[in-house]
Amino acid sequence: MAKSLTRRQFTTAAAAVAATGSLALAVPGGAANPRPVRVGFVGVGGRGAGMLRHSLGIKGVQVPAVCDVNAARAANAAKMIARAGQKPPDTYTKGDTDFRRMMDRDDLDAVFIATPWEWHTPMAIYAMKRKQYVGVEVPCAITLDECRQLVKTSEETGTPCMMMENWSFRRDNLAVLNMIRKGLFGEIVHCHCAHSHNCVSWYTGKKWPAKHLLKRCADQYPTHSLGPVLSWMDINCGDRVDTVVSMATNQWGITDQLSRRHGKDHPSAKLDWKQGDIVTTMARTVKGKTIVINMDMQLPRPYDNRWMIQGTRGLYNEQRDAVYLAGGGKGHAPEKWSPFAPHQTKYEHKWWRGKDSPGGRYGLSGHGGVDPLELTLFFDAVRNKTQTPIDVYDSVVMSCIFPLSEISIAKGSQPVKCPDFTGGKWETAKPKFAVDGSPVA
Ligand SMILES: NC(=O)c1ccc[n+]([C@@H]2O[C@H](COP(=O)([O-])OP(=O)(O)OC[C@H]3O[C@@H](n4cnc5c(N)ncnc54)[C@H](O)[C@@H]3O)[C@@H](O)[C@H]2O)c1
Repeated sequence: MAKSLTRRQFTTAAAAVAATGSLALAVPGGAANPRPVRVGFVGVGGRGAGMLRHSLGIKGVQVPAVCDVNAARAANAAKMIARAGQKPPDTYTKGDTDFRRMMDRDDLDAVFIATPWEWHTPMAIYAMKRKQYVGVEVPCAITLDECRQLVKTSEETGTPCMMMENWSFRRDNLAVLNMIRKGLFGEIVHCHCAHSHNCVSWYTGKKWPAKHLLKRCADQYPTHSLGPVLSWMDINCGDRVDTVVSMATNQWGITDQLSRRHGKDHPSAKLDWKQGDIVTTMARTVKGKTIVINMDMQLPRPYDNRWMIQGTRGLYNEQRDAVYLAGGGKGHAPEKWSPFAPHQTKYEHKWWRGKDSPGGRYGLSGHGGVDPLELTLFFDAVRNKTQTPIDVYDSVVMSCIFPLSEISIAKGSQPVKCPDFTGGKWETAKPKFAVDGSPVA
């Protein structure tokens, strides 16, 4: 595999594509006969099998190998692959470290990892050392040390590692990004985001997330909140997270929900869960902008991300599905909420423009079409040996809120410094996520 591009090289190459109008860097996933991309899947449970299904629907994606400690799941994935008309894959099911045997093959261009969190970093590192592009589920790391290891390995091997944060690719979020880049909200100052989702099914003792929630009190799932925020606020390309402060409530929700569902004598309902019900994190950037992040995953509630981005000239509020733009400057212009829908149409990102766009092509399957879109863009990067749409720095900065919030909470909500994972590159790096030169797959 050719050496991957640095962020700066990638931006330059992408700009060249934009300038020349050439799509040489951007062999489209929708092309009639795209060059094959060979991917090994590790972990084909709920998420992995879903992403495998979408991948098999993308032209040129071949899956010669599947690994899961659960042989029945690996067999199920093998059936899906055969049903899609591909050669039945080799399966690797001999325990927790059998992924190494799969990654030792010399015919894989990339791996897709959707295992329990504690395996993400060790698996990603092993793959990068074999020059296999990494697509890894969220969060990509659960300690600061793991964040650093991912960056170090990606830099040393020249191999991209992309955390598959799907909400970065949402249609509405990308239209908001276009509005921000056109300056409609002025200078961006502040943002709210949340992952609010009743995930109490994670909390019965045998489910793997339970062991994390029993032992740690942190924002354990920060990436769906932060996905779009990174590009909205130029994090890692002009600004970076400097300080993090977190506060957690006590835990009542898990015990109450489990008692009501399974009876108060159920073993899981009697456990001493460390995870507080609501974790609120505040992050301040080097340039003095702020972000509020909520983890809210163990009280009964509908799904909600509560995105709100605010600048000197207006704001976008996802819950109200509306924008508020400042008037003409003399204080007399009618400043009022206006529905987001016309802005969505006007500022539609090209990844979603039209039914043949990579976003529109798949209809609403996979989180509203978002999952196949991000996979298409990931596989295009693998095929073209370019940087992935989300690079290792963006991947770890989203994930590091997990350990940083844990440290802050344990210290009675003291501020904690966020490491500069880019090693200073954030100061000169230009935005690259979903910029005009990005591939139209
Ligand atoms: N981006 C999203 O929208 C989204 C949605 C759901 C889950 N996820 C993420 O996907 C990942 C998987 O979650 P899930 O809900 O599919 O869990 P799951 O339990 O359904 O699947 C995990 C699979 O990994 C396998 N596994 C465990 N240890 C392994 C090992 N050492 N080697 C190989 N296989 C191993 C398990 O047998 C299982 O089949 C998690 O990181 C989760 O956070 C992301």
